[in-house]
Amino acid sequence: MQNIIVVGAQWGDEGKGRIIDALARKADAVVRFQGGSNAGHTVVVNGEKFVFHLIPSGALRPEKKCIMGNGVVVDPKELLNELESLHSRGIEVNNLCLSSNAHVIMPYHQKIEEIEEEQRGKNRIGTTRKGVGPAYQDKAARRGIRAADLLDKNTLSNKLRINLEFWESSCGLKFSLEGILKQYLEYGKKLEKYIVDTSLIIHELVKENKAILFEGAQGSLLDVDHGTYPFVTSSNATAGGACTGTGVGPTRIDKVLGVAKAYTTRVGKGPFPTEIKNEVGELIRKRGQEYGATTGRARRCGWFDGVVLRYAVRVNGLDGLVLTKLDILGGLSKIKICTAYRYRGKIIEDFPSQAYHWQECEPVYEEMEGWEDDTFKARRIEDLPLSLQKYLNKIEEIGGVPILFLSLSAERDNLLAMRQDSASLLA
Ligand code: IMP
Repeated sequence: MQNIIVVGAQWGDEGKGRIIDALARKADAVVRFQGGSNAGHTVVVNGEKFVFHLIPSGALRPEKKCIMGNGVVVDPKELLNELESLHSRGIEVNNLCLSSNAHVIMPYHQKIEEIEEEQRGKNRIGTTRKGVGPAYQDKAARRGIRAADLLDKNTLSNKLRINLEFWESSCGLKFSLEGILKQYLEYGKKLEKYIVDTSLIIHELVKENKAILFEGAQGSLLDVDHGTYPFVTSSNATAGGACTGTGVGPTRIDKVLGVAKAYTTRVGKGPFPTEIKNEVGELIRKRGQEYGATTGRARRCGWFDGVVLRYAVRVNGLDGLVLTKLDILGGLSKIKICTAYRYRGKIIEDFPSQAYHWQECEPVYEEMEGWEDDTFKARRIEDLPLSLQKYLNKIEEIGGVPILFLSLSAERDNLLAMRQDSASLLA
C-alpha cells in the first residue's frame, strides 16, 4: 500500500479532515506532522459532527494508529480535553502515540502570543491565540520543552526555570514555576502511556509495508517558508513538513495530494487577491458556514485562485487534487476563476514571492457559467452539470494536476471518485 501526504492547497480550512477520514479506511496509521490546536479538522458521520484540533482525523476508525509526530506542538490540556470529549461520545482513542520530541505549549506561550499580537498593532497576523507561534519560537531558540520532559521532574524543572527567566527578562512576564511544574507533571502522568519515539514506530510501519497517511494542517499558503509571510503560521504546512515533522525519509512517500475548496477562504489578516467584498462573498460565507472551527471567526471568502493552485502544485509536488464544497457554489449564475494576476500592467502566472508584490496584484478572471443547486445528489461524473464539468476542466488545466475526488457535501460517503485509480485509494 501507499504512503500518502495530504496537504491544504490554499490558506487552510479546505476540508482536509473529511478526506483524511475517507482515505483512512485503507490506511494503517494517520500521522499529524505539524501545527497544534490552531487546526480544526471536521468530520461528519451520520449527521454527527466531530472537530479534531490535535488528534489525527483517523481517530474515528478505532483500529488505526493515530500518531502525533515530533513536528506537532502539543497543548497537554487541550489534548486531554479532546480525548475526554471523544470518550464522552463513545469514542476511545486507544492507538494514540505522541512523539517524545513534540514540543509542549506552556501557559506562558498564550500570554506571549497575546502580547506580540498587540505589539504588531495594525500589522497583527490574526493568530488563533493557542500559543502555537511562541512554542515554535522556543523550539527554534533551543530552549523548548518536549513531551518527554514532562516525565522527568528535574529536567522539567530546570528547563522551566530557564524559560521563565528568559520570558521575564524579555517580556516582563511573571509565572509561578512551582504551579506550572505541578500541573505539567500531572499532565505528564496522564499522557505517559502515549509518549513514545514515534519516528521508530513509523519506521517499523514502513518496514512492514503498512499504509501511512500524513495529515497536513493549515494550508500551503500559511507555510512559514512558502506562504504569504509574515501572514502565516509558524510551521511547515507543505509536504516537506511531513518528513521533518515525523522523521520519515522522502523516499518513503508515494503520493502527495492537495485539498482545495471550489472557492477560496482565509482567516486572519494577509494578502488575498481574489477576496470578494460584496454580497456574493457574504452569500458564500453563509452557505459554506465559513466560520473558523477553532476560533469561530468569520472567514474571508473569494473566487478560486488558479495562481495559488499552480503555486501549491509546485511547492508540494502535488500528484492530485481533491476539490471540496462544490455544492456551496450551486445556484450562482456566473462563477469567476482567477487564471493569472496583473502586476504593473504585466500578466503573471506564477505566485509572486514578496509581500510588496502581492499588494499590487490584481486577479485576471475568466467568467464561467454556474450550475444548479442540487449537485450533491450526483453519484457519477456524467451526472454532473456540463457547466460544472467545464469548471473542473479549467481547474485541471490551470493547475496541471488531475482532480481525483470531488467532495459534494460534508457527509462521510459523499466523495465522488473522478478516475479509476482514485477510486482504488478508497476501496
Ligand atoms: P497561528 O497558527 O495561530 O499562529 O495563526 C497564524 C495564521 O494562520 C492566522 O492567520 C490564522 O488565522 C491562520 N491559521 C492557523 N491555523 C489555521 C487553520 O487551521 N485554518 C486556517 N487558518 C489557520
